[in-house]
Amino acid sequence: MRPIRIALTKGRLEKKSLTLFETMGLDCSSLKDKGRKLILPLYYDEASAPIEVILAKSADVVTYVRHGACDFGIVGKDTLAENGAGVYEVLRLPFGVCKFALAGKRDSDFYAGHHERSIATKYPAVARRFFAQKGMDVNIIKIEGSVELAPLLGLADAIVDIVETGGTLAANGLEVIEDIQPISARVIANVASMKLRHAQMRALLDDMAAAMAVAEF
Ligand code: PRP
Repeated sequence: MRPIRIALTKGRLEKKSLTLFETMGLDCSSLKDKGRKLILPLYYDEASAPIEVILAKSADVVTYVRHGACDFGIVGKDTLAENGAGVYEVLRLPFGVCKFALAGKRDSDFYAGHHERSIATKYPAVARRFFAQKGMDVNIIKIEGSVELAPLLGLADAIVDIVETGGTLAANGLEVIEDIQPISARVIANVASMKLRHAQMRALLDDMAAAMAVAEF
């Protein structure tokens, strides 16, 4: 049987996930010194089988776990809120903390008037749900990054985006209009793996939960 595989989101969540793995007692030298390698074995000790960590973009982490190519994934709730169907969310991690918010130009009244608003976002499903709850029809424009540009260039009335420190909004004359949803990193699991490899999966998950409680992130 192949090793248990964990798909890890490249970038912002990588360093804190490494702290989590080290606190679990795993030898993470392959992950620390990875070069261009994408599949990295982590060992509890010399005698035991490795756990494999793969590095991927956040949306791909969910895809690998959904299809069973990986058993676990570490990914932000933002990615899951947008497209997280078909995987189990099994652990809420204390890092990658930020929020979804509706934001617009400072001192502009987003809700004034009756015209249809245009909303730029990387997260159309999240934005659609938010405005559906309000009973508001909006025109959603999908943007791949630097979404803050859209209201500045007159493409949209507001944005639905991730806010962490608020620094990007402030630097561009924008402000939060309304908070939408808190976000943090999550451990997700493949549905079939949780049944077929239950003992192994449970043991690893228990180790992650125990390490999470004591690690200093
Ligand atoms: C995210 C988000 C904001 C920024 C918020 O972008 O889309 O632009 O971080 O962080 P802050 O509140 O701490 O300023 P990211 O850096 O992931 O790049 P992107 O805009 O290209 O997606």
